[in-house]
Amino acid sequence: MAIRKIAQIGHPVLRQVAREVTQEELASPAMQQLIDDIVETMHDADGAGLAATQVHEPVRICAIEVRNNPRYPYKPNIPLTILVNPKLTSVDDEQFENYEGCLSVPNLRGLVKRHVHVRVQAWDRYGAPIDEVVHGLKAGTYQHECDHLDGKLFVDRADPSTFSTWNEFDRHHKAAFVEKIQAFVARIGS
Ligand code: NI
Repeated sequence: MAIRKIAQIGHPVLRQVAREVTQEELASPAMQQLIDDIVETMHDADGAGLAATQVHEPVRICAIEVRNNPRYPYKPNIPLTILVNPKLTSVDDEQFENYEGCLSVPNLRGLVKRHVHVRVQAWDRYGAPIDEVVHGLKAGTYQHECDHLDGKLFVDRADPSTFSTWNEFDRHHKAAFVEKIQAFVARIGS
């Protein structure tokens, strides 16, 4: 396993539409190694998720995990999940606003509208099918990571007037946001 370098905003790889992988490729030692490296890099950086494009590999693979995350202390835990060739569809029109950040966008957060309920169809790292509906902050994390595979960053979707450094977020926005998002999490359950 190895910690890989995380591409930063401005690097063209973050704007590439990643290509799908085949079952044969997915089973290869190189692709399994890439998945291990994505997980290790995500853990090292305290990320809630990391997409292959962020480690300079434009293939449709991402990892998601929230385990008492210090960057996002209000996020309910999500077990380690690998999505391969994920396809997201919104279940209905309900949306919520989330202050997002990204390991590829240093020291910036912003309010992004996300769907509350999304269906995810994908493979796991062994090629087994995943088909489930995810909700709330978990659904927001899935949408953020899958955006990366289409060359999109949260800054494309955020209201620019809400952009904030992490320090100014803590000083001026965190308390009100955490109160609002905790009520949302209590209502949605994730
Ligand atoms: Ni990101």
